[in-house]
Amino acid sequence: MAGSVAQWVLLSFVAGFAYGLNVDLTAAESLKEASSTIAYDMMATYTGNQTGDNPGNLPEPYYWWETGAMFMHMVDYYYYTGDPSYNEATVQAICWQAGMSGETFMPENQTKSEGNDDQVFWAFASMAAAELKYPPPQEGYPSYTEMAQNVLNQQIERWDPDTCGGGLRWQIQSLNVGYNYKNIASNGGFFHLAARLARYTGNEKYVEQTEKMWDWISSSALYDPGTPQGIRIYDGASVETGCKKPNTAQYSYNYGILIGGLAYIYNHTKDSKWLEPLHGIMNATFNIFFNPEKIMVEVGCEPFDAGCSTDGLTFKSFTLRWLVLCAQLVPETADIIWPYITASAQAAARQCSGDDNDVCGYHWTDPTWDGTQGVGQQMSALAVIQANLITVDDLAAPLTLDTGGTSKGNASAGTGPEYTGPEGSPWLTKKITTGDKAGAGILTALFLAGTLSGTYWILAY
Ligand SMILES: *[C@@H]1O[C@H](CO)[C@@H](O)[C@H](O)[C@H]1NC(C)=O
Ligand SMILES: *[C@@H]1O[C@H](CO)[C@@H](O)[C@H](O)[C@H]1NC(C)=O
Ligand SMILES: *[C@@H]1O[C@H](CO)[C@@H](O)[C@H](O)[C@H]1NC(C)=O
Ligand SMILES: *[C@@H]1O[C@H](CO)[C@@H](O)[C@H](O)[C@H]1NC(C)=O
Ligand SMILES: *[C@@H]1O[C@H](CO)[C@@H](O)[C@H](O)[C@H]1NC(C)=O
Repeated sequence: MAGSVAQWVLLSFVAGFAYGLNVDLTAAESLKEASSTIAYDMMATYTGNQTGDNPGNLPEPYYWWETGAMFMHMVDYYYYTGDPSYNEATVQAICWQAGMSGETFMPENQTKSEGNDDQVFWAFASMAAAELKYPPPQEGYPSYTEMAQNVLNQQIERWDPDTCGGGLRWQIQSLNVGYNYKNIASNGGFFHLAARLARYTGNEKYVEQTEKMWDWISSSALYDPGTPQGIRIYDGASVETGCKKPNTAQYSYNYGILIGGLAYIYNHTKDSKWLEPLHGIMNATFNIFFNPEKIMVEVGCEPFDAGCSTDGLTFKSFTLRWLVLCAQLVPETADIIWPYITASAQAAARQCSGDDNDVCGYHWTDPTWDGTQGVGQQMSALAVIQANLITVDDLAAPLTLDTGGTSKGNASAGTGPEYTGPEGSPWLTKKITTGDKAGAGILTALFLAGTLSGTYWILAY
């Protein structure tokens, strides 16, 4: 990986500061080469396929959910570039993490700290594999679609009508920090996954689930249509306040998850009622998270001295991924969205000037590498740069079972509150005790940081 900052400064001095990944956003070969360079450096961090290691895990400080997110982008990578170099590792990781738990992405090692949002990010990876016709799962595993259905069906059973009029709690285990929090990553994640399953399988049950969750989200205090920027989305709220006092932290992926879900469900139902919230959330996304040059800034953490947490460094990648998806599935938004993608891609490439121009920073508005590196930075640069292959190579939109998808589902997979995996699954016998209480995965640190960015928000806007 990268040398020290000092080394880099020296090198760039010698080279006359002509730095940054050189990429022509209108040329397929250039885009593929840049994507390959960035993906290579990201995957170099992954050790899960080495002997004695566990597939689907990244080393510290990366949480388990981030590995799911990384493989989601690697599924996309193959779709965009056609480069199969990482397919084997990706299929293995998805199957391993799903398979340790009756195909529900609740592996024993994670159950203590796993939240609904952590689980759903792995389901996004398997759903992408279904929609993009990724090489099939290993022998003996259910289809990618079934893995995603398992997760949704399990989460349907976690619907909690007793507080805040419904929705999902962030955490699954009642002893975890965050069990009293209802957040967009979990509820929006459910909405997004249900919308994808509705579109992919055509099963009406998923349309109903999408509607039910949307009704909850859009009538909650996490959804604020009365702002000059557009529809603002807040991170979450605690059940003790009846979810009435939201944590107003601004994280782009909360917007991105909803934009993606709205695009899928609109594309499937063709019902124009989805367009107004879609445009409202998109407006807020552009007004809040992009500078006047249309370059993305993760405003909830990026401008601060402390910067973004390990989780926060990944957020741009999802928002950008699902904006691009929206441009495909809701064609009338394409002309609005693409200028933000190309401007951010160009800026991200400039930040990829660490080491031998393969290490990316995340302050995309800075003209030179910010000296940081990590999986989140690589993931975000990869997501925004490789997406340009959609227009250059005229790639087909994600498939459905009606338009060539081959990953058959099983609508009753994983149903019922008692569903805990196949016989002998460790999850069956696992009892969570107080001693097991562990820090939750995604967002624990951010929950605390939320107060901070709330302050920033008031100052800045
Ligand atoms: C859980 O951890 C144990 C011990 O490190 C390991 O043997 C097992 O493969 C892990 N399971 C998964 C799904 O990573
Ligand atoms: C692990 O995956 C990486 C990336 O696909 C690959 O370069 C490496 O050879 C793989 N290692 C093993 C032991 O399979
Ligand atoms: C989004 O912003 C555009 C341009 O400012 C405006 O015309 C449109 O009405 C807005 N849409 C919504 C739903 O807020
Ligand atoms: C759904 O997406 C496809 C693929 O991009 C597109 O051709 C179609 O027009 C979209 N449907 C609607 C209702 O916009
Ligand atoms: C579908 O899932 C249900 C519930 O897990 C299971 O009983 C059934 O065997 C599955 N059907 C197929 C065809 O795999």
